[in-house]
Amino acid sequence: MKILGIDIGGTGIKAAIVDTLTGELLTERHRIPTPKPAKPKAVAKVIKEIVTHFDWKGPVGCCFPTIIVDGQCKHTGNMGESWMNLKVDALFKKECEENTFYVSNDADLAGLAEINFGAGKGVKGKVFVITFGTGIGSGLFYNGQLIPNVELGHIYHTNGEIIERYAADSVRKRESLSLKEWAKRVDAYLKHVKILHTPSMYILGGGISKKFDKFKEHLTVDVPVEAAKFKNNAGIIGAAIYASKKSK
Ligand code: BGC
Repeated sequence: MKILGIDIGGTGIKAAIVDTLTGELLTERHRIPTPKPAKPKAVAKVIKEIVTHFDWKGPVGCCFPTIIVDGQCKHTGNMGESWMNLKVDALFKKECEENTFYVSNDADLAGLAEINFGAGKGVKGKVFVITFGTGIGSGLFYNGQLIPNVELGHIYHTNGEIIERYAADSVRKRESLSLKEWAKRVDAYLKHVKILHTPSMYILGGGISKKFDKFKEHLTVDVPVEAAKFKNNAGIIGAAIYASKKSK
């Protein structure tokens, strides 16, 4: 099945048409910077622009960078107060009447791509797909089954801040950390999550996963760690898979 997948992130909104039976991108990726401020109306307009760009009439899968329950935003995350309790699927539908939207958390959907076609395929036990971008997202799968909205970017570091304010990729850039310095922060975080959850595997996603070979030597956590096979496209692919399952 062909579906339009959209990944709404803190800095960019990325989309492509995906073959949901293989996870392959069937078009070039189209990226539009996330409006600043990222108010609902402004983001909905970008969604419309993307749907128009692909001349897309069918269902649309969408990753959203905070907690989503049944299409409704349940936490402001990095998006701002105006999203709180908003039905994001209905907001986008209002802007693009010909489409139906299926919206869910970004790390959960990136994880769907990795579990179905990527690094987590067939892995038993608990697999955590941890995405590093503006924030830290976490998708939990148990024997291939998604347990949604597990927010491991929000556990507290001993410095009193939530961990994503210490180890997200945006922090690496903001504080000009070397890959090694940043990876050491990630390593400590993965070790802590290991104590809490005893995962079978970690899959690291987000744009930084492209540099995995350059920082993996600094990860000493005693759990297999792999880069997301689909790197930064995992969200787009997972969003399309999610919409294909929901629209059946
Ligand atoms: C949000 C998560 C999201 C992650 C990555 C965090 O700030 O709480 O829901 O998955 O950012 O976008």
